[in-house]
Amino acid sequence: MVYYFSATGNSKHAAEVIAEKTGDSAVDIVEVLKNGIPENNSDKTGFVFPVYFWGLPEIIKRFALKIKNSLDGYVYCIITCGANTGSADKMLEKALGRKLDYSFSLKMPDNYVVMYDPCEKEKAKKYLRHADKELETICADISGGVFKKGGASGGELNSIIVSKLYDPFRKTKKFFADDNCISCGLCEKICPDSVIVIENGKPKWVKSKCQHCTACINRCPAKAIQYGKKTAERGRYNYWDTIKEN
Ligand SMILES: Cc1cc2nc3c(=O)[nH]c(=O)nc-3n(C[C@H](O)[C@H](O)[C@H](O)COP(=O)(O)O)c2cc1C
Ligand code: SF4
Ligand code: SF4
Repeated sequence: MVYYFSATGNSKHAAEVIAEKTGDSAVDIVEVLKNGIPENNSDKTGFVFPVYFWGLPEIIKRFALKIKNSLDGYVYCIITCGANTGSADKMLEKALGRKLDYSFSLKMPDNYVVMYDPCEKEKAKKYLRHADKELETICADISGGVFKKGGASGGELNSIIVSKLYDPFRKTKKFFADDNCISCGLCEKICPDSVIVIENGKPKWVKSKCQHCTACINRCPAKAIQYGKKTAERGRYNYWDTIKEN
């Protein structure tokens, strides 16, 4: 089973490629947390997700607690990142209470629009082509049951300190929808934390903290979601819009 969490499509794409090439199934962690762990007929278990603040997204920590006692066989993680993943693989090992057989830091386009301009389209396409090449190696490694740590390195020394900043940072107070909102309801549908509720045609953030995954802000078709004052001038990134022809 290839479990994935993905806000802007990078990790979902990676998980789907791995599942297809290794004869496995890709399963969304958000669905598993709602509906329970499906039966795993594979001798391998994969975790594919983005790095946040050189650490684990909160949802991954929750999922690790849920699944740790049912893990068996070959266990691997592919952590997607804009630059590198620090010690996020070690943090996953701690959360699972076991060593990983294989881990890989897969560089893909950066999506954290809340902090900086995300990867622009032409550069993103280039990174995605490179990631697809890396995925060929990853799939061959996983199929062959290879034991190793690979991919982009860096951030390991500061990872523990920086990852602690994630929790205080993941507040929702600064999110709002501007006048460009077309009331399509997509943001409510895709929020992995059910934090967004549409009221009178406009989104409202009803919990004080969220994953800060950027699905709402990067995937809003009207570019209507903002976080504070700076995101209106910034670009947006998501995998699906990037691979579209125009
Ligand atoms: C809250 C947040 C924190 C992030 N922190 C890091 C980081 O520490 N290092 C890094 O290289 N990329 C970081 N990123 C970039 C993402 O890990 C990267 O774009 C990832 O591939 C997105 O995956 P997705 O499209 O599956 O959601 C961060 C993104 C978000 C939303
Ligand atoms: S996704 Fe964007 S346009 Fe659609 S309801 Fe949410 S804010 Fe409005
Ligand atoms: S509110 Fe937006 S950034 Fe926060 S978890 Fe939901 S979709 Fe992600």
